Amino acid sequence: MSEVPRPKQERWGTRVGLVLAVAGNAVGLGNFLRFPAQAAQNGGGAFLIPYLISFVLMGLPLLWVEWAIGRHGGQYGHHAAPGMFARMGRSRWLKYVGVFGLFTNLTVAAYYCYIESWTLAYVYHSLVGTFTQTDPKHFFDSYLGANEASLSAVPREALCWFLATLALNTWILSRGLVKGVELAAKIGMPLLLVFGAVLAINGLTLGPGDPGVIESPLAGLNFVWEPQTSGLMNPSTWLAAAGQVFFTLSVGMGSIHCYAAYLRERDDITLNATTAGSVNEFVEVILGSAILIPIATAYLGLNVVQAATAGGSGFGMAFTTLPTLFNNWGAFGPFAGAMWFGLLFFAGVTSSLAMGQPVVAFMQDELKVRRAPAALGFGGATLLLGLLCVILYPGGAFDEFDFWTGTFSLIIFAFLEVIIFGWIFGIDRGWAELQRGGDLKLPNFFKYVIKYVTPTFIGVVLLGALLKPSGSWGDAVGSLFTSGSWPFDPGSVIGKLLHTGATEGNFDNGEITHVGVENLSRIVLATVFVLIALVVRRAFKGRDLSTRLLAPEGDPKP
Ligand code: ALA
Repeated sequence: MSEVPRPKQERWGTRVGLVLAVAGNAVGLGNFLRFPAQAAQNGGGAFLIPYLISFVLMGLPLLWVEWAIGRHGGQYGHHAAPGMFARMGRSRWLKYVGVFGLFTNLTVAAYYCYIESWTLAYVYHSLVGTFTQTDPKHFFDSYLGANEASLSAVPREALCWFLATLALNTWILSRGLVKGVELAAKIGMPLLLVFGAVLAINGLTLGPGDPGVIESPLAGLNFVWEPQTSGLMNPSTWLAAAGQVFFTLSVGMGSIHCYAAYLRERDDITLNATTAGSVNEFVEVILGSAILIPIATAYLGLNVVQAATAGGSGFGMAFTTLPTLFNNWGAFGPFAGAMWFGLLFFAGVTSSLAMGQPVVAFMQDELKVRRAPAALGFGGATLLLGLLCVILYPGGAFDEFDFWTGTFSLIIFAFLEVIIFGWIFGIDRGWAELQRGGDLKLPNFFKYVIKYVTPTFIGVVLLGALLKPSGSWGDAVGSLFTSGSWPFDPGSVIGKLLHTGATEGNFDNGEITHVGVENLSRIVLATVFVLIALVVRRAFKGRDLSTRLLAPEGDPKP
């Protein structure tokens, strides 16, 4: 095995900048929109215990593993997953596992940037008073073209804001790590926290004397925070909780690996990863719970909020209900609206930049493209994929992307990476890699968690996602024994693949149907995956990835 010198490379400017950027990657729309909606949909406090257990046994270990894989790969000059995984063992197939790290980021960015663009548009519309004159629900549907009879639409205003959002992301990425990503996090994260605190304090102090208030906002907070053990026995709650942990921490995406790759060989991982993960949890559980649900409870009552979220519209409430409720805040209303959507925008942009950076880095490192054209490449690819989500939003393309890329792909990638780390790279080597330079000594217990518990946990979640039945799990097992069939939930992976419950074909009277939109989205996503795999193949063709780095002076060989 030959030895090569360490490549020179870009680094983070400051440790604060790094932690803010990594926390900004994790803190996103998931914290303020997805978490309260998921919690409320899964019984409020009943969701909390499975969520916290998933965080400790799966989320934290995955964070450490991804930081370790990233910093290790970064020493060889790889800032994107394919090269990093190629360095973790001898098999030439490892680099294809890394394809997930590009695929997921690119395809999640396509629909994520679209939501991000709504928040930007809503800042503007809050400030100009649109929601004091127009019903936000009606506005939301027409903004997205969702109130037409057809399943496709070209919503002009939404398209303009989407283009503006992509241009902004592209521009920031083209400025590089320190002047782009790190600076954006240094500005966006503090503003996000200030806006969040102002809204939470204003919302939680609403009382019976305030105009329009019918119930204490604390009833909403209590609903989410009061832990109940009932969720422990419900596999669907576990599935939702684990899915939320994945999404909110941005694990299984490839973006954490990328950020960690800009560290030096002996920079701390353990404390940085744990701090960034904890900041995310603080923002999610404390701030994320303290705005949407309590304010909606104060004005609409807890029963209405529970009914709306149980019906799956918790996410939409942020855009369709909250703007009207802010009107009760008098002259401060438009500013409260701008703060709410501004907060969402900062949360979103610091996450979408983390989706773009690995793609840009891959083009720079492995295809030798300069930074600005690489950033443009990311913007262009996101635009093309995003257009599908924009135009076919009424037909469900957006949800289809969210399921396959923002949920399923994360679980698969996380499952593969934790196995590779614990069993192929080797847990002893992996544990040493993780602890090197660490400012926080991790308990040895986690070495075994990473090797055995986390992969088992993710494996069970994966199986649950594949097989989720339409009724209770007990009834499904009963039906397997009595009728030999398993009633797949239409939302399970297999149920989705089989279009369970759907009776239509791809087209009806020449118009694309929901099934048609789903199939088209899947074909596009599968094609993107294959294309990235082909590019990866070409990028590494003929390269000797078995070289070892020369040890830094005074160090034993790595
Ligand atoms: N972790 C990011 C979020 O929560 C993707 O939105």
